[in-house]
Amino acid sequence: MPPPTTGAGPHVAVLAFPFGTHAGPLLAVVDRLAALSPSTPQSNASAFKNRPSADASPPANVRAHDVWDGIPEGYELTGRHQEAIELFMSAAPAGFRQGIAAAEAESGRKVSCLVTDAFYWFAAEMAEELRAPWVGFWTAGPNALSAHLYTDRLREALGNVPVAEAEEAQLGSIVLGMSKIRVKDLPEGVVTGNLTSIFSTMLHNMSTHLPKSAAAVFINSFRGLDPTITDDLASRFTTFLNIGPFHLLSPPPPPPNSSSCLPWLDGPNLAPASVAYVSFGSVVTPPPHEIRAVAESLEATRVPFLWSLRDHARAHLPQGFAERSQGQGQGMVVPWAPQVEVLGHGAVGVFVTHCGWNSVLESIAGGVPMICRPFFGDQRLNGRMIEDVWGIGVNLEGGVFSKEGLVGCLDRVLKREEGKRMRENVGVLKEKAEEATKPKGSSSDDFCRLVELVSTTTMP
Ligand SMILES: *[C@@H]1O[C@H](CO)[C@@H](O)[C@H](O)[C@H]1NC(C)=O
Ligand SMILES: *[C@@H]1O[C@H](CO)[C@@H](O)[C@H](O)[C@H]1NC(C)=O
Ligand SMILES: *[C@@H]1O[C@H](CO)[C@@H](O)[C@H](O)[C@H]1NC(C)=O
Ligand SMILES: *[C@@H]1O[C@H](CO)[C@@H](O)[C@H](O)[C@H]1NC(C)=O
Repeated sequence: MPPPTTGAGPHVAVLAFPFGTHAGPLLAVVDRLAALSPSTPQSNASAFKNRPSADASPPANVRAHDVWDGIPEGYELTGRHQEAIELFMSAAPAGFRQGIAAAEAESGRKVSCLVTDAFYWFAAEMAEELRAPWVGFWTAGPNALSAHLYTDRLREALGNVPVAEAEEAQLGSIVLGMSKIRVKDLPEGVVTGNLTSIFSTMLHNMSTHLPKSAAAVFINSFRGLDPTITDDLASRFTTFLNIGPFHLLSPPPPPPNSSSCLPWLDGPNLAPASVAYVSFGSVVTPPPHEIRAVAESLEATRVPFLWSLRDHARAHLPQGFAERSQGQGQGMVVPWAPQVEVLGHGAVGVFVTHCGWNSVLESIAGGVPMICRPFFGDQRLNGRMIEDVWGIGVNLEGGVFSKEGLVGCLDRVLKREEGKRMRENVGVLKEKAEEATKPKGSSSDDFCRLVELVSTTTMP
C-alpha cells in the first residue's frame, strides 16, 4: 500500500464521545459537512443506524471506524459511578490513534483536520503529531463551557469557603455573564463533588488545552442568546463559532410516521399554548415517586398533556392513569415523541424538562416556556439561566417533583401574568434564533467558516 499523501482534498477525522447525548449532535454536523464536501464513494452504515431518520445510510463520503471501548476482556462492570466512561477515557487516546492510522492507511490519505468532542483534550497533542488543526465541539451551552473554562478561578475564589455555606452564594463577578448562578448550580467537579475523579480532571485538562491549542471551538448555540458569555468565550478561543440552533440551520429529515401524537395535538378541543409536553430526554428517568407526582398533578389540574415516557418507567404511573387520560382525551403517554415538531406546535404551552442543552434550545426555538427539573451536569445551570437570566421558565421548589409543586408551576406558566411574560421573553429569543439561522445570519456565517476551516488542507 502506498504511504498516505496529503493530496486529493480534505480528510477529516471526527472523534465522538460515545456517552449520553454527545454523539448525536456531532453526527448531525458531520452529515451536513459531508453533504457540502466533494464525495468519494466510501461509506459504512454502522455508526449511522441509530439515526432517527427514515434514511439511515451515511453520506457516501463518510466512513465509520469503531475504537475499543476500553473494557478489558472478561471485566465485569461493578456499577461504580462513571465506570464505563473512566475505562473508555483511559483507552481512548491510544484507540483513536489506531483508528486514525487505520483510516489513513485504508484511504491512502493523511488526515487534514481533527474534529472532536471538546472533552478530548488529548486531541491537542494528536493534532500536533498529525500536523493538522484541531477543532473542538462543545455539545452543551456556552454557560457550562464557561464554568469549566474558569474552573481554576472559581476554585480559587470559592475554595476557602465551606461548601455548605457557599452553595447558596451567587457567582457575582467571578465569571462574566453568570452573576446570578449559585455555586450549587455549577456542574459537579468544578468546585463541588469529587475534584480528582477522572471526569473532573478530564474537564479540567480540557479547560487548559482548548484555549491554547484548538484552531476553533464550535457550539450548538446562537450569539444573541448569551451575548456576554459568548463574547467572553470568543476572547478566550482562537476562533469561537456558534452554529445553532442546529436543527433550524439544518433541519433533520421528518420523523418516521409511526407516532400518533402530532395528529392529537391538532385536535379541535386544544386551545393554543395549552398543552404540557413532558420529557426528560434519553438518559435520565426520574425516581418512581416523582413520576407518580407528575401524573397526580396532571390529573388534578386537568391540563392537557403529551408525555414522552419510556416503557420501562410506565410501571411507575398510578394504576390506570394512561388509559384514563387517553380515554377522557386529556392526554397521551407515548414511548417516544418527535420533540422538535411537538415543541414547534402551537398547542404546546409549556415544556416540563430535565434541562439538557438540546432540549432547552429546542424549546427556545419553539417559543415554549419551561418547567425545570434538572438532574446533573449542566442541567441545574441551564435551569437557573431559564428562570433568572432569560426569564423563560421556572424551577420546581426544592428541585424535585411533588404534586403540589408541579400544580403550582403549571398554574404560574399556563394561567398567570408571569407566564405570559415568559412566553413573550422566549418569543424574543425564538426570533433571534430564527434570524441567526437565516442566510447571512450569524449562525449561518459561522457554519460557513466551520466548513472552510475543516476543508483547509494545510496547517493554519
Ligand atoms: C463498517 O465498520 C465496521 C466497524 O469498523 C466493520 O466491522 C465493518 O466491516 C464495516 N463495513 C463495511 C461494509 O466496510
Ligand atoms: C475521587 O475519585 C478518585 C479517582 O477516581 C478516587 O480514587 C477517589 O476514591 C474518589 N473520592 C471519593 C471521595 O469518592
Ligand atoms: C489530565 O492531564 C494530566 C497531565 O497532562 C494527565 O496526567 C492526566 O492523565 C489527565 N487526566 C485525564 C482524566 O485525562
Ligand atoms: C401518517 O400518519 C397519519 C396519521 O396517523 C396518516 O393520516 C397519514 O396517512 C400517514 N402518512 C403516511 C405517508 O403514511
